Parts: sequence; structure tokens; C-alpha cells
Amino acid sequence: MTELKNDLLLRALMKEPVPRTPLWIMRQAGRYLPEYRATREQAGDFMSLCRNPDLACEVTLQPLRRYALDAAILFSDILTVPDAMGLGLYFVTGEGPKFRDPLQTVDAIRNLRVPDVEKELGYVFDAVRTIRRELNGEVPLIGFAGSPFTCGTYMVEGGSSREFPTIKGLAADAPEALDELMDKVADTTTEYLNAQIEAGAQAVQIFDTWGAALEPDNFRRFSLASMQKIVDGLIREKDGRRIPVILFTKGAGPLLKDLADTGCDALGVDWTTDLEQAREYVQDKVALQGNLDPATLRESPEVIREGVARTLASYGNGPGHVFNLGHGITPDIDPDNLGVLVDAVHEMSPQYHT
Ligand code: CP3
Repeated sequence: MTELKNDLLLRALMKEPVPRTPLWIMRQAGRYLPEYRATREQAGDFMSLCRNPDLACEVTLQPLRRYALDAAILFSDILTVPDAMGLGLYFVTGEGPKFRDPLQTVDAIRNLRVPDVEKELGYVFDAVRTIRRELNGEVPLIGFAGSPFTCGTYMVEGGSSREFPTIKGLAADAPEALDELMDKVADTTTEYLNAQIEAGAQAVQIFDTWGAALEPDNFRRFSLASMQKIVDGLIREKDGRRIPVILFTKGAGPLLKDLADTGCDALGVDWTTDLEQAREYVQDKVALQGNLDPATLRESPEVIREGVARTLASYGNGPGHVFNLGHGITPDIDPDNLGVLVDAVHEMSPQYHT
């Protein structure tokens, strides 16, 4: 294996000292970049891009050519897992993801099978191997998956939802069936992430975009418990290095306390919680990643720099901070504005690591 030239991300995720705060950006490969849109066009559509290891590698590397980022993130989607479970994922422009066969009955959940991950998702592991080879040790590669609850919302509702009527109905009327769905997606996801790690992912993040839409007790029963099951089953060390696990529940707030007790290494934090407060919640048990509001990137360079300064100051001194946005970068952002953010983190963060 090639020696890693920049391991700041892995060190910060383990709360080891670093000379400056490392950074990467959620959705760093995406539609705000003209070169991404051109490659997607070449692939035909989004899923064809995900299924083509060379083109998935190309879009993974695009943001690293523009910006001094400290990690690459695998280009794929969280919904490849439900797709592999047989639900038939497709995308409708302007409407987002859809499933041809959503889980509309308790029987459909009972009949759902944990798939052969190597067979159904081999294209993802091929992409991981291709990306690792092309990265040549410059920065670490982050693998990822969705949380069972977040994937479950799309599997049950059949697409994006604001109110989650079907899955909340299951939580109220057939909670054992929802437990069973969470278990099956957790088992599939554990195998899926371990196969990414075997193929070369050097850290993994679980995206729990919708878990905090539940009441706290239901968050713990369905979303937290299923993420705990995954954390317990993951490969945590490979080639003599720890494989850090990051959990990102959007809007977690005080639930960060519960998330910190799962045995993960780091937690993603969105902009509705100050990092100073988040540090108190987690009692320095884990590293924190975040948390500038992505809307800031629509503002002037001065406002972006102020946002970076505020975020760094909010975490304060010492190791254990990975700079990121509080959620993904949106398609309308001017790429130059992300450059302003990246430069500001490089310039302003060393003072917090003396
Ligand atoms: O961060 C990265 O650069 C890696 C790639 C990545 C994508 N999706 C690519 C993508 C990651 C980590 C995801 C995660 C994901 N996907 C989440 C969790 C994180 C979050 O943002 O909340 C969720 C909920 C999904 C499901 C999903 N995929 C939705 C709702 C959509 C439609 C979004 C929209 O605005 O249209 C997607 C499609 C998708 N996934 C795109 C990209 C770049 C855009 C599709 C395109 O290029 O046409």
C-alpha cells in the first residue's frame, strides 16, 4: 500500500494533534461544478455515473483538483443499498429519487431479503479500488452509506418526503415491522461498508439525514439502535491503522449525547448547534465535524471568511475538529466561493493548534 501523504483527516478524527484543521465538504463532487455536469452528461444519467467506476473516480477527483481538501469521498449515493435490496431506484429530474417497488405493506417488509452485496454492489467496490489507485496516497478516501432509518424513509415513502407519513405510521402502528426493516437494512449496510473498507475506504461516514425527524424515544429505538448495530459490526482497523467511523444525524442537537455513546469516532454537526455546545454534549468523547451553514457560500468573500472564523472559534482550541459544512453544498453555489472557504480554513486554523 502507498504511504498516505496527508493523514490530517484521520488524525483529527482520532483527536490526535494536527498543525491545522483538516477539511472536506459534504457533496464536494456535484452539480455546482461544471466539470461534474459534463461528466454526468458523458455517462448519460446519475445512476450510470455511479455504476461506471472510471467516471465515478473522475468526479470524485474533480474537487481535489480545484481545492486543497484533505479527503476524497467516494462518489455514489446512499440509495444504492435499497436498490440492491430489489426496490428499483430511479431518478426523475426535479423530483429526486424514486423507487419502483416501495415497501407498502408489512408483508413486503417481511419478504425483504438481505442481498448478496458483492454481486449487487460490486460496481461500488470497483470504484473504491479505482479511486484509491488514482489518489496515489495524496489524501484518504472516505466511504459512506445511509443510516437504515434515512434509507427506510425512501424505501417506505417511495421517494423524498417532508412529513414521512408512512414510516411514522409504521412506527406508531407496527413498530415490530419497522424494527425488522431497520435490522435488514443495518445488516446489508454493515456488509456494504465492510466491503468498502476491504476495497480501500480509509474512514466511513453514515448519513442520517432524517433520523431527527422522529421523537427522541423513536429516534433511539429505530435510527440510533440500527446505527449502533452497524458500528458494532464494522472493521475498525486495517493495515495497522484505525478506520474512523463518523455518524452524521442532521439536526441531532442534544441527541449528540446518545450518538457519542455508540463507540463511533466522530460526529457530524449541523449549523443549528454551536460546536461549543456540541463539545459540551459529547464531553470530548469523540471528534466533531462541521458545521457552517451551506447558505453562507452564497454570500460575499468577507461573509464567508467571517463564517469560517466563527466556526473555528466556536470549536476553539485543541484537536478533534474536522471543518465541513453542516449539510451538503447546493448546486447553485459559485465554485470560486468554495475556494474562499478552503483558503480561509488553511489560513485561520493553525492558531487553534499551537
Ligand atoms: O458527498 C459527495 O460528494 C459524495 C456523493 C453523495 C451523493 N449523495 C451524490 C449525489 C453522497 C454522500 C450522497 C448522500 C445522499 N443521497 C444523502 C444523504 C446526505 C444528504 O445530502 O442529506 C441522501 C438523503 C441522498 C438521496 C439523494 N440522492 C437525493 C435526495 C438526491 C436528489 C438530490 C437533488 O437535489 O436532486 C440524490 C441524487 C444525488 N446524489 C446527486 C448527487 C451528486 C444529484 C444527482 C445529479 O447529479 O443529477
